[in-house]
Amino acid sequence: MFRSAKSILVAGLSLSLTLGTAGAIASEKYGFGKTATAEEIQGWDIDIRPDGMGLPGGEGSVADGEALYEQLCATCHGLFGEGEGRWPVLAGGEDTLTEERPVKTVGSYWPYASTLYDYIRRAMPFTAPRSLSDEQTYQLSAYVLYLNEIVDEDFVANKETLAAVEMPNQEGFFVDPRPDVSNTRCMENCADPSKLQIVGTLQGITPVGHFVEGADAPAASHHEQEQKERQMHGEESAEQGHQAALSDSAVAGRDTYDNACQACHNSGIAGSPKFGDKSAWKDRIGQGMQVLVDHAINGYSGDTGIMPPKGGRSDLSDKQVEQAVAYMVESSQ
Ligand code: HEC
Ligand code: HEC
Repeated sequence: MFRSAKSILVAGLSLSLTLGTAGAIASEKYGFGKTATAEEIQGWDIDIRPDGMGLPGGEGSVADGEALYEQLCATCHGLFGEGEGRWPVLAGGEDTLTEERPVKTVGSYWPYASTLYDYIRRAMPFTAPRSLSDEQTYQLSAYVLYLNEIVDEDFVANKETLAAVEMPNQEGFFVDPRPDVSNTRCMENCADPSKLQIVGTLQGITPVGHFVEGADAPAASHHEQEQKERQMHGEESAEQGHQAALSDSAVAGRDTYDNACQACHNSGIAGSPKFGDKSAWKDRIGQGMQVLVDHAINGYSGDTGIMPPKGGRSDLSDKQVEQAVAYMVESSQ
């Protein structure tokens, strides 16, 4: 019965309401549901905190874990946690996190050992989640830590010892420093959301260097590089130069361009004519709007690359594509 959507709702409601005094009023107010029993809540309340809060009694040794692991886990995760085929690797990968292809494992990546207990109990074995006893979960947690050389072979996991394990990457996690994730929520006299306007994004945070072939520079330096190139070619930046001249159709096409075309055309990736680059567009524009629009809608394979039909966005109407072409053409002549 825990699995029905209805009881999830009921448990969720009551959990939030037990904080206040409104538990009994809840059913009157909303006219449905019932208060979850302590037992029902217990069925869901299985998370374990880094300090070990939530861990049950009992214990399990590395030695007992070894036998159980080989029986229940090794077919997928490998005898030594190396991962069979493409199943997840559980051990190894130390010092790879800063490499281009980091091997993220319990040992190399996870900050807390308590997560291991939580995860295994909640989700493993993959084919039979929640089938393990508390003792078995302790045994397997101990053994996976042992496979990662984080504990010795005589380690016995329990509420205290598991919480005391220090994981190698514990210091590798930090609070997201971006300014927009730490805003405090406004509770009164808040700004009217419809009046808010997003005027720009912070430079240099989202890497876009990979949009440019052969470039692996972070966004900020990519942006600077683009500015320099423009200056060298004596071009104005797109924002400054073309605002005034755009037709209504081109203005209407800007959003479509931003959503569906700029991934290629902003940088000229894969042989696409670059937005704002007059020389790349001159001959193309010479074909006339009709041809350009036709190529953009139906796709086109010319001398420099392949323009997929509608840029791969079959959900766009012909009209939207036409407007996007107008925006590109008028901004590039
Ligand atoms: C049928 C294959 C299979 C078996 C058997 C299996 N697992 Fe897994 N395990 C998986 C898959 C798949 C994932 C990744 C699940 C996901 O990311 O949603 C996973 C993830 C994990 C992870 C998290 C890895 C990470 O770094 O994110 C741990 C720990 C783990 N399993 C432990 C165990 C243990 C202990 C057992 C034995 C009781 C076990 N697994 C049995 C397939 C399996
Ligand atoms: C996956 C990359 C990609 C996307 C996305 C993309 N294009 Fe292109 N586009 C190209 C390439 C490559 C060419 C150059 C083809 C050639 O001339 O060989 C091109 C050429 C064009 C041309 C010139 C055609 C000609 O006859 O010279 C127009 C117009 C055009 N694209 C419009 C669009 C519009 C509008 C969108 C968005 C709806 C879009 N493109 C999205 C890659 C793309």
